[in-house]
Amino acid sequence: MYVLGIETSCDETAVSVVKNGDDVLSNTVASSIKFHARYGGVVPEIASRMQLETIYQVAENALETAGVKLSDIGLIAVTAGPGLLGSLVVGLSFARALHLATGKPLLELSHIHSHIYAGFLGRQEIKMPCIALVASGGHTSLFHVRDFASIKELGSTLDDAAGEAFDKVAKILGLGYPGGPQIERLARKGNPDKIKFNCSDTKNALDFSFSGIKTAVLYYFKKHSRLNQGKNQPRRLIPDLAASFQEAVVKTLVQKTILACKVTRVSTIVAGGGVAANSRLRQALQSAGLNKGIGVFFPEKQYCLDNAAMAAGLAYRLFKRAKQP
Ligand code: KG4
Ligand code: ZN
Repeated sequence: MYVLGIETSCDETAVSVVKNGDDVLSNTVASSIKFHARYGGVVPEIASRMQLETIYQVAENALETAGVKLSDIGLIAVTAGPGLLGSLVVGLSFARALHLATGKPLLELSHIHSHIYAGFLGRQEIKMPCIALVASGGHTSLFHVRDFASIKELGSTLDDAAGEAFDKVAKILGLGYPGGPQIERLARKGNPDKIKFNCSDTKNALDFSFSGIKTAVLYYFKKHSRLNQGKNQPRRLIPDLAASFQEAVVKTLVQKTILACKVTRVSTIVAGGGVAANSRLRQALQSAGLNKGIGVFFPEKQYCLDNAAMAAGLAYRLFKRAKQP
């Protein structure tokens, strides 16, 4: 079955055709990121206006690239939330109009659940139950996944999301938006042990808190910039800050995800969301999993970031499951 996925929860306009939940035939993503960069974050009005202007073309491109016609599509999948309201409305209205015009079934999905599915694209071998870590710009949560219709949240962030912390720290350090890739690039040149940062403790050990560490970076940066006023900043200050911050966030994400496995006695981890594209996180979680006999799966990097293939894949699995007697 060919599924047409539509995703417009943030700045992206994404449409994808996926065959039988696994085979991604097209994955068209039009981002308005360059129009937001000068504001240091996504401006909702700009995002939704661009989505309205591009969605038809993006959908045509996705069908053409996949080599299928609208009449070949068996199911339409669309992100219903969470996300920016104006942006979600564009994708939802487009999907509902297609559903009414063609009579094809429509599934409206959680964006977070789609991020969990990204790791399953093309991987029939992942066994349930699993622990899912979703770390993106808007969310950071741990889930116990028994199957795609039974997903229980074990903990989530009490304040900033992990990606949001990367973005805010990048802004403090005068780097561009989005911050995650910039911090990762600079961290490669820095010493992760140079500055001891920690993420705040939480009452529920499976919750997260990232706003304290962002403030700690801000104070450290201000203090050391002031000390060096008039002189050139120490060459390594920003790379060391980036590496030390990244290391502390990665350590917390890894520790809590492994703890979630221990608490639930589950031995499979699937990670997703934009922060899951981070190479240091990928390496640290893989090696922690290896140590504990836990299988760790990451999506391909293109499917960590917002895309519609993950929504199409999840919709196929849910649709198939609902059809089972
Ligand atoms: O999943 P996503 O594309 O959108 C949301 O649903 O939020 O995630 C975007 C977030 C941004 O905060 C971005 O800075 C972060 O993911 N990100 C990264 C990396 N690439 C993107 N964070 C750390 N390291 C990266 N390589
Ligand atoms: Zn997302």
